[in-house]
Amino acid sequence: MCGIVGCVAEEPVAGVLLEGLRRVEYRGYDSAGMATIEGGALEVRKGVGRVSEIEERRKMSAMAGTIGMAHTRWATHGRVTDENAHPHTSCGELVAVVHNGIVENYGQLKKGLASRGHRFRSETDTEVIAHVVEEEYRRSKDPLRATLSATKKLKGQYAIAVMFQDRPDLMVGARKDAPLIVGVGEKKMFLASDVLAFIGHTDRTIFLDNREVAVLTKDGVKIVGPDGRSVKRRPTQVAWELSDVSKSDFAHYTLKEINEQPQTVVSASIQETERVEAFARAIRKAKTLYITASGTSYHAGLLMKFRLNKEARIRAEAVVAGELKEHAGFLGRGSVVIAFSQSGETADVLEAVKEAKKLGAKVYSIVNAAGSTLARESDGFMLLNCGPEVGVAATKSFTAQVVVANLVVDAVLGGRHSNGSKELSEAVTEALKCDGQVRDLVKEYMDRPDFYFVARGYESPVALEGALKLKELSYIHAEGMAASELKHGTLALIEKGTPVVVLNPTGGTHADSLSSAEELKARGADVIGISDAADDVYRRFIRVPKVQPKFTPIVEVIPLQLLAYHAAVARKNDPDYPRNLAKSVTVK
Ligand code: M6R
Repeated sequence: MCGIVGCVAEEPVAGVLLEGLRRVEYRGYDSAGMATIEGGALEVRKGVGRVSEIEERRKMSAMAGTIGMAHTRWATHGRVTDENAHPHTSCGELVAVVHNGIVENYGQLKKGLASRGHRFRSETDTEVIAHVVEEEYRRSKDPLRATLSATKKLKGQYAIAVMFQDRPDLMVGARKDAPLIVGVGEKKMFLASDVLAFIGHTDRTIFLDNREVAVLTKDGVKIVGPDGRSVKRRPTQVAWELSDVSKSDFAHYTLKEINEQPQTVVSASIQETERVEAFARAIRKAKTLYITASGTSYHAGLLMKFRLNKEARIRAEAVVAGELKEHAGFLGRGSVVIAFSQSGETADVLEAVKEAKKLGAKVYSIVNAAGSTLARESDGFMLLNCGPEVGVAATKSFTAQVVVANLVVDAVLGGRHSNGSKELSEAVTEALKCDGQVRDLVKEYMDRPDFYFVARGYESPVALEGALKLKELSYIHAEGMAASELKHGTLALIEKGTPVVVLNPTGGTHADSLSSAEELKARGADVIGISDAADDVYRRFIRVPKVQPKFTPIVEVIPLQLLAYHAAVARKNDPDYPRNLAKSVTVK
């Protein structure tokens, strides 16, 4: 959940690092810091707060040195304090480390190190790594061997960048179960948690594999496997561009990403037929079929499950990734797991697919980040093609996931998948026109303590998504549920003026959802209808265009995303960086 960026170059690197740090800030934003080596001295500047605040106070960009690394933290071990911010150094300031992950045996390691005279300045597991590497380095005098031996002592997950005060010519990186990517530039090499950190400097990347260690100099990279043997890996090119990581004229990334969706639905639908067919074949052949994901991606997975069950008559279980192993009674040889993940690095998802593979299942994934761990560990994958999603709230990745899942289900049903969808794109453009209405809604309801979202059938996961989005961005308590469930308990919470959003496209469940809306109104709720057809029962109504039933979640989610965004802004929250959260949840 933390962001790492490191660089070895010919010129000073602080500016490049600060730029990279800002781009990976979405991964964690409770504290940040930078370390460089200049004139034989290792300097660290760090502190609590957002990158811009720390830059203001500590002037990281003024640090000298042609080698450096930076980190943005999402606290796991140790409180949010200046001392706990990364980079961490060993006692003799010989070694500096930044880390993403959790060292599970840090307590035990720390005891041993303390008994050998090491003194600690923070409460973090990361500082322990610096001391372990230092011990190894004093023994071997070899940065690569020292890092390799040190990582063998670590239990848990890690992506680390390590600098050695007496070796300003090189930086070492290592990973296990957390992403770490090498960026190969001209006389400028990068180590980062995400390619976004160095886009604009190079598009040539090497995705490190688990337990590999890389040594970077300004001229190149040497990679070794866990046995210390050299690994040959050619750089691959990433398709993302610099313009993808700017906010353009939008106030926030989240708003930009919401507004990109007319394009998202087109680019997500451009897929190689053979890949779609491979997914479809695997689904048809599967003895048992599971769909797994977390958060918003899980909601997209629920939609796929619905269509597979109802239209294709294929039994699919959808289970949140963090719970998959508890539901694995029917997972084994012949099973197929479909994993959805924007980042492809969500720890719960990676753990779930690892378990599934152990049991003999095949894994097919739908991811946004090419080269991500999930994509690489899957038997087949399809990309969302929606460009980087920087806002912590998943918006365009959700619509892209629905588009891709639909292509797969259509192929299972025997239909040919269509490349591009003008009709859908126009419908999304139309749906986005509700922005003004949503702002009015926010004016009226932004101070309400609770919000409810209800729907039936295929629409139900969208109700869950509406609630998740509102909670995470506005911090208003929200619940999403099947409208049929209201009378089994939740109606007791409905009072005069309680806002309840009813998602109700015409078709299948329309009449039943109208009845639910009436029940809600009778108990005093302010019913907010989102539909292609107005009705008197709605106190407020947002019209979305009529689309094919498989696309209704896409047009309905737009007002819900805008609602969450505008509520966040109205309540003075930062919609791009909601409190306590991080974009890629790379810890369990
Ligand atoms: O990268 P992933 O799709 O695997 O992420 C899964 C969830 O962490 C993510 O969707 C999260 O729920 C979002 N912040 C919701 O907006």
